[in-house]
Amino acid sequence: MNNFDYENRTRIIFGKDKQKMIGQLIKPYADKILFHYGGESIKQSGLYEEVVASLSAAGVEVIELGGVKPNPRLSMVYEGIRLCREHRIHFVLAVGGGSVIDSAKAIALGVPYDGDVWDYYLTKKQPDQVLDLAAILTLPATGSESSDSSVLSNEEHQLKMGFSSDKIRPLFSIMNPELFYTLPENQVANGVCDMMSHILERYFTNTTHTDVTDGLCESTLKVIMKNAEILRKDSRNYDAWAEIAFAGTIAHNGLLGLGRAQDWACHKMEHELSAIYDVAHGAGLAVMTPSWMRYVNQTNRNMFLQFAVNVMGVEASFREPEAIVKEGIDKLERFFVSLGLPVTLSELGIDESNFERMAKKATWFTEDKETPIGGFQKLNWRDIVEIYRLAK
Ligand code: NZQ
Ligand code: ZN
Repeated sequence: MNNFDYENRTRIIFGKDKQKMIGQLIKPYADKILFHYGGESIKQSGLYEEVVASLSAAGVEVIELGGVKPNPRLSMVYEGIRLCREHRIHFVLAVGGGSVIDSAKAIALGVPYDGDVWDYYLTKKQPDQVLDLAAILTLPATGSESSDSSVLSNEEHQLKMGFSSDKIRPLFSIMNPELFYTLPENQVANGVCDMMSHILERYFTNTTHTDVTDGLCESTLKVIMKNAEILRKDSRNYDAWAEIAFAGTIAHNGLLGLGRAQDWACHKMEHELSAIYDVAHGAGLAVMTPSWMRYVNQTNRNMFLQFAVNVMGVEASFREPEAIVKEGIDKLERFFVSLGLPVTLSELGIDESNFERMAKKATWFTEDKETPIGGFQKLNWRDIVEIYRLAK
């Protein structure tokens, strides 16, 4: 097990009707806030009205900024920074999924900063100061409600980049499973795949003596798959949503990666797809993950055997390790298909034309330098092209 130093400040307030507490929760921090949200979903569900009523009852003044799109854009972040400065706001409330929360994190980063907020995403330099931030989660998927990351799209340069700092973890996040009942089937599937990927990116490691986190990863993956099956038949099952939402937070709050080297190649390869083709993050991961597994499994076959047997329920056998590894990967792919997720690039409408461009962008390839991706197996741009080909 590797050394680690872990802190996660985010308070999670979980359960029915908890969104109605938002005014009283914010009041000790701020009298005026930026209320940041996405499209129409929170208005259609009635959540918008509840939030406004609670803030107003607590005497919190609201400046609104709606319209965040999936794969959140830098231009919207600039608008949020401008509004906060104009109205002297130092608290941002995000009500939505990962895109809204990530956009809010970027605004919180940008307001006290003299330069361009995109600098943080390009240089990874750490902020001295950020605005206070909280979230009401409407889509369990990204874990952004307590993660240290924000992922932003720079539409002008077709770049999608992440930035991480403990300072952008929300102060608190509200999670009420009933708020997920209105999610369409494809978003449920995308979310399930994303949270599973957050675990798999940590699980596949060459670090040894990681029994605690191996076990946590394996049981959380099984909980997600079991409850995703329940939700397919009963999309308003409170208990299944509760398990999925809790698992989604655990999947990406940092806990499951402690003491182990992590991979993150699938996320990097997926972000290249989203940057150019604007695909949903979870759908892109469903395509990339089985192909990545098929390409790298020889690097540490024991890890893949463990995955096949402990997570995917393949019967153990000492005689045919290759077949067990293959069956584990095939079963994961079949599970994605059962949720209605795409598993090939062609299903996403993506052909070979940008494979090399995306692979070179992923490794920041230049004539004399390249930065391979992946902690489990290092991948240069040629490897990445091969994985995109496997995913065709
Ligand atoms: O905009 P509205 O109308 O709200 O509709 C949204 C959006 O169209 C809809 N939705 C959300 N909650 C709903 C709902 N529809 C009905 N009922 C509800 N309760 O869902 C659509 C997708 O929302 P979005 O926020 O884009 O999805 P998600 O939560 O999957 O976020 C994806 C983004 O997060 C990034 C991804 O790259 C992507 O940009 N990620 C962020 C991470 C982080 N900050 O830690 C880690 C992840 O790996 C990921 O990269
Ligand atoms: Zn993700």
